[in-house]
Amino acid sequence: MHPKTILMGIFVPVAFLLYSESHFVKMTNVVCDTYNKSWAVFHYCRLKAYSRNKTSLNINATFLHPARNISLGFRLLKRANGYKPFLFNITIDACLFLRRRHNPVIKMFYNVIKDVSTLNHSCPYSGLQVVSDFHRVSLPVPLPSGDYLVCLDFIFDGKTQFFVNIYSHVVEDF
Ligand SMILES: *[C@@H]1O[C@H](CO)[C@@H](O)[C@H](O)[C@H]1NC(C)=O
Ligand SMILES: *[C@@H]1O[C@H](CO)[C@@H](O)[C@H](O)[C@H]1NC(C)=O
Ligand SMILES: *[C@@H]1O[C@H](CO)[C@@H](O)[C@H](O)[C@H]1NC(C)=O
Ligand SMILES: *[C@@H]1O[C@H](CO)[C@@H](O)[C@H](O)[C@H]1NC(C)=O
Ligand SMILES: *[C@@H]1O[C@H](CO)[C@@H](O)[C@H](O)[C@H]1NC(C)=O
Ligand SMILES: *[C@@H]1O[C@H](CO)[C@@H](O)[C@H](O)[C@H]1NC(C)=O
Repeated sequence: MHPKTILMGIFVPVAFLLYSESHFVKMTNVVCDTYNKSWAVFHYCRLKAYSRNKTSLNINATFLHPARNISLGFRLLKRANGYKPFLFNITIDACLFLRRRHNPVIKMFYNVIKDVSTLNHSCPYSGLQVVSDFHRVSLPVPLPSGDYLVCLDFIFDGKTQFFVNIYSHVVEDF
């Protein structure tokens, strides 16, 4: 298999949710920030609480110029005397990824994203970008109980433009 295919195969399930009933996952905080205000600005980046156990992710941002060349860096960290790298640190070509919807794994990713965001198309992206009420968080691989941090770095034209960091609490064998 091509290395990129393998990476995608890993990335997609981890980031976007094959269902695992035996785990309890709650997003506990989200931080978004931009490195380049002339390309991407955030208006809103917050979790909404549904109940003690459930939150949803809501993001509203604007891309001031069309983004045609987008890579996505994905890192998982686990808390243990500060957050330490854990299991994944990969970067994918997001535009290529979105174009290849015939791949069942990518189709799954797309199906999740399209229902909760304006990211329901292929590149380029420009203008208002919204993720609303994203809450179908679950795990593809068993993770030990603990506090995790998912770092998403959005790289346009080879340079990181902004990041979205999602803090989560996982309870095994819920
Ligand atoms: C910042 O964004 C502008 C587009 O508004 C782009 O031309 C420039 O290359 C970006 N700077 C960096 C360091 O990525
Ligand atoms: C996104 O935020 C902007 C600026 O606060 C606001 O004007 C716009 O209505 C928001 N859009 C959505 C869909 O939330
Ligand atoms: C929340 O999760 C805990 C386990 O973490 C469970 O005992 C409790 O019943 C849940 N509460 C609600 C309102 O779902
Ligand atoms: C993740 O990988 C990138 C590129 O391979 C590397 O530059 C970076 O230092 C790594 N980050 C961590 C936290 O391991
Ligand atoms: C994306 O979603 C919006 C709002 O749900 C919808 O109007 C639009 O047609 C969708 N675009 C595609 C390409 O599916
Ligand atoms: C995206 O931009 C990077 C950095 O400028 C470049 O190396 C890469 O070839 C570009 N990818 C595409 C598909 O144009």
